[in-house]
Amino acid sequence: MADRTRAEAAAAEDGDAQLTDRTVDALEGLSGVHPGKRRAHAKGICCRAVFTPSGLAAGFTTAPHLREAGIGIEALVRFSGSSTDPSLADILSPGKGLAVRFRPPGGDVSALTAVTVPVFFARTPESFFDLIKEANRLKGGGIGAIAAAAELATHFPEARHAFMHVGKLRPPASYATCRYYAIHAFLLVDEAGVRRPVKFEWVPELGVETLSLADLRSLPEDYLERDVAERLRNGPLRFRLDIVLGREEDPTDDPTRPWPEDRERIDAGVLSITDVAGEADGLAMDPTVTGAGIEPSDDPILRFRSPVYGESLRRRSSGE
Ligand code: HEM
Repeated sequence: MADRTRAEAAAAEDGDAQLTDRTVDALEGLSGVHPGKRRAHAKGICCRAVFTPSGLAAGFTTAPHLREAGIGIEALVRFSGSSTDPSLADILSPGKGLAVRFRPPGGDVSALTAVTVPVFFARTPESFFDLIKEANRLKGGGIGAIAAAAELATHFPEARHAFMHVGKLRPPASYATCRYYAIHAFLLVDEAGVRRPVKFEWVPELGVETLSLADLRSLPEDYLERDVAERLRNGPLRFRLDIVLGREEDPTDDPTRPWPEDRERIDAGVLSITDVAGEADGLAMDPTVTGAGIEPSDDPILRFRSPVYGESLRRRSSGE
């Protein structure tokens, strides 16, 4: 019995590793292999930042970067376009990303990745793989991006919400004028070990600002990266970190379903982005690396992202 259990566990692990590999292969299928580049969110810019906690989350978590009011926590930020193609013009990749790595002194590193839509396309790793496989098939058939999205939304009902949000996105005026959602539920753990489900959102100090059709004509391909560098010459770019408190009935295992809008929020602090930085070798924003005081929820997509990001890092670090 014990042997069978071990064999079953080994088979399950093999299956997971295969799904990880095949998913990264499928992402590569979308725009080809770009050696040395991330297999998604391939184009981006890194910046140095400081996060200053408000202290209002201290009763909910032991995470050092969320507790002590007024202490500046060193952070590294990467803004990105969602495409798998690092040479795609900024205007053409629909969603944008904001990945942050907090480095509290003497504490655990904690990563937080977020994008400009509040929900994801798939509920499970298997359905995400099927969706990307189908996207590859449609692309092979020469179908355009908008028709492909409509087709995918028909075949994958759970993806409809996400496609609806992506369809409503307008090109941002700046990476600094987007609202970013970490999508998944996480658990905050307090000093007594009590766990509470939460979601995280970054709210731009400058407000949300998008471009009009007239603005689009004269934009350089990397207008978002130029804009960040230019704005930083005049001072820091700031985002407020909102922690959204979940209630018992809110799903923690399904990133395709949003929580109701009226959930209580905590203003957890301010991220101040100060200057552009080169990218350190081996930088990867594994969203399950949360450090003490924050835990990944039971969301299967969140857990699957860890080995996928590891495989993407392995391939790009070895020059593939
Ligand atoms: C099955 C689900 C997902 C897969 C397979 C996937 C895949 C990937 C891959 C391969 C990378 C590049 C990793 C690297 O080389 O470091 C990446 C980056 C990224 N992903 Fe995902 N992703 C998934 C879900 C999500 C979700 C739900 C979000 C939203 C919070 C997200 C946001 C990002 C961001 C912001 C980056 C850029 C990170 C950076 O700047 O280093 N991803 N993703």
